[in-house]
Amino acid sequence: GIELGKLLSATGYTTLDPGFVNTASTKSAITYIDGDAGILRYRGYPIEELAERSSFLEVSYLLIYGELPSADELAAFATRIQRHTMLHEDLKRFFDGFPRNAHPMPVLSSAVNALSAYYQDSLDPDDPEQVELSTTRLLAKMPTIAAYAYKKSVGQPFLYPDNSLSLVENFLRMTFGFPAEPYAVDPEVAKALDMLLILHADHEQNCSTSTVRMVGSSDANLFTSVSAGINALWGPLHGGANQAVLEMLDEIKASGGDVKEFVRKVKNKEDGVKLMGFGHRVYRNYDPRAAIAKKAADTILAKLGGDDELLQIAKALEEAALTDEYFIERKLYPNVDFYTGLIYRAMGFPTRMFTVLFAMGRLPGWIAHWREMHEDPATKIGRPRQIYTGYTERNYTDLESR
Ligand code: ACO
Repeated sequence: GIELGKLLSATGYTTLDPGFVNTASTKSAITYIDGDAGILRYRGYPIEELAERSSFLEVSYLLIYGELPSADELAAFATRIQRHTMLHEDLKRFFDGFPRNAHPMPVLSSAVNALSAYYQDSLDPDDPEQVELSTTRLLAKMPTIAAYAYKKSVGQPFLYPDNSLSLVENFLRMTFGFPAEPYAVDPEVAKALDMLLILHADHEQNCSTSTVRMVGSSDANLFTSVSAGINALWGPLHGGANQAVLEMLDEIKASGGDVKEFVRKVKNKEDGVKLMGFGHRVYRNYDPRAAIAKKAADTILAKLGGDDELLQIAKALEEAALTDEYFIERKLYPNVDFYTGLIYRAMGFPTRMFTVLFAMGRLPGWIAHWREMHEDPATKIGRPRQIYTGYTERNYTDLESR
């Protein structure tokens, strides 16, 4: 890439690129995507291998520190995180202020932002020890916050973390368990959820990650920057699509399951309806994460007994779209969100929790990018230019003469 920005600003020119379709905002060594070939690699490792052989904790370490951990490094990392899973008791009361029917995403982002108020000894982006501490705290506390956001929405009591459990097991217990009642984590569910978190762990300069970098570029602390990323993720064009896909599938099922009729509506852009879970800014080929999720949906729904009719509708929709000129011409394929919701539902999560699960998965990616940005001496505060299209100078008119 040419550093066109420097060249042009020296000559007084500005480039206009809505949505950053062709503008790189940074250099990065974390994640590689070849959208035409459908390739995704974290730190050089193919997503398929990581999904099959690694764990979410190892992948988090890989993204943040650049290398796969040794067994000792992984054990130390896990212990460090286990020590920080609890929330400050005052912060727990924070949840009481939200209405019970609140969507868990704003609850999650607010509580993550509030970490800046409760853990003020880890806010300095220029102090490596504080950055390390905020990294550990975020990785440890996010599953607790996510589980409490769920508990709040169903009106059930919060559970303290059980630090004899792994990160994912702990999350499942805090979500679906009850105080003073034993909760046996289903190992199949834990493994499948761990794999789905790996699929979501990073995706280079997507909307939420770019937001984390943008906010962090002002030297805002890690908690606050990640909270901004969670808000960006909530939108239905980004992470909120996993909820939107299930709502779409439910709607198609309720109206008789006519997939062709739905595709017709999408093609005619009737009421702005889109095929949610399809299309991607970078992939002009099958999203490799969607391929893995589709396979997992088959096996997990067979084991857990999910809604097979919805899975059949999803597959029929995919087939109808992939053989249709509209989608072929525009190179629209299923993205990661197309099949994940079916798995989450089979696991027992309500639709509103889907994007929270995405946020839990994306967390190590956000942290890795925020840290990479801070370590890069070329980093400048994010400050895009604009092309002004408003009035030229006008004379002020007093209120009584308007
Ligand atoms: N259904 C129907 N048509 C679509 C879809 C879709 N899902 N996605 C794109 N198109 C059409 C557009 O209408 C446009 O058609 P046109 O040329 O006739 O106007 C063309 O394909 C190009 O689409 P753009 O919107 O320009 O592509 P862009 O790269 O800006 O958008 C996006 C990418 C936002 C993901 C889009 O494909 C979309 O809205 N998909 C549905 C939401 C979704 O699944 N989001 C999750 C993305 S993955 C993630 O964040 C985890």
